Amino acid sequence: MSGSTHVDFEHTGPGLPAGELLRRYWQPVFVSEELPVAHPKPLKILGEELTLYRGEDKVARIIDGRCPHRGLVMSVGKVEGDSIRCRYHGWKIDPTGQCVEQPFEPKSFAAKVRVRSYPVEEYFGLIWAYLGPAPTPPLPRWPSLEQCGYFHVVELRKWNYFHDLENTVDDVHQRWVHAEGIYQDAANAGQIPAATALETEYGLMQYTSFPNGYLRKLALFMPNMLYFTSGAGMLRGFKSFLWNVPVDDVSHKMFFLLVAAHLSPEDGRDVAEGVRSGMRYVASSLPPVEQVIQSVLSGEKRWEDIESRPDLLLIEDGIVLVGQGIIPDRSKNRLGASDAAIILLRKLYTREMSRIEKGEQPTAFPGPDEQLLAQIDEFQAEPV
Ligand code: FES
Ligand SMILES: [Fe+2]
Repeated sequence: MSGSTHVDFEHTGPGLPAGELLRRYWQPVFVSEELPVAHPKPLKILGEELTLYRGEDKVARIIDGRCPHRGLVMSVGKVEGDSIRCRYHGWKIDPTGQCVEQPFEPKSFAAKVRVRSYPVEEYFGLIWAYLGPAPTPPLPRWPSLEQCGYFHVVELRKWNYFHDLENTVDDVHQRWVHAEGIYQDAANAGQIPAATALETEYGLMQYTSFPNGYLRKLALFMPNMLYFTSGAGMLRGFKSFLWNVPVDDVSHKMFFLLVAAHLSPEDGRDVAEGVRSGMRYVASSLPPVEQVIQSVLSGEKRWEDIESRPDLLLIEDGIVLVGQGIIPDRSKNRLGASDAAIILLRKLYTREMSRIEKGEQPTAFPGPDEQLLAQIDEFQAEPV
């Protein structure tokens, strides 16, 4: 399978094969500190409209996006204890999705009314949700990293998640897309790296090897998490976790978690705070990433005219991703040898999605637990 037949990787609503595959794994959905107590938020994930709220007991919860009575969004509701009351006629929904009060009904039928609710956890400053079938798997944990400093980059990206996911294992693009990227030295020396990929128990490993002996490795944990140790610039040595989580079929959120595992906890926290304030400065003083992407795609600016800035990478990737189309037609792709990881990723999705469609059990890929990360790290440290 190299993309010549149409397989629907892109649509992730309930019941669709790619959607069912992604639902079998915990997904980051929100930044913890952006959810105050008793301030519900509308949340869309995998095409589902949901309500995210933090109860007065400080616990984050996810229930259906709409009230079961006449469909008002519950995000404008009022948090009461661990529950939420609809603003329209006062129906109260508890954290399990059970309706527990209908104040204006002469004969309450609340016991018969229930909406969706999903398991929620908080870890590394992120709110995680599990939208899949029971039993809920454990959220992967990294005890040895818990004291480390870390920061996030979270971006809403207005295109389908799957070509962003493909881009994460497409190391060849680094040379052409990222002006300040890690491959420029090799490129300037006229070196052409070779890209290969191997299937692993958790998904795939992408390798890029340079004639000078430098070997870069990226681990993709099925279905949608990339793990690597950053090798460039100020992020060198950070453990990097990247999830592309569909919001709906035409947009997704990129959750990038960078952990300063190579620094002492104190230094790591200082560095992370420095990066966070730098990001706040960028967000308040520079044109939005989306606007710059559009200015190049509309022809108003040349690629060469994009000004250098700390988040340049997001702009460069954005242009080549939106530039393929919001939901690209993969059936016309002409894949080559350097697309090894893309071909393998599509093959893994195709295999798992077809199992789901046939009602078979898909592979239970192990989550990124500490033991697996250590194996990958060790492997990355091998001399080449
Ligand atoms: S719509 Fe929610 S109580 Fe009526
Ligand atoms: Fe990139």
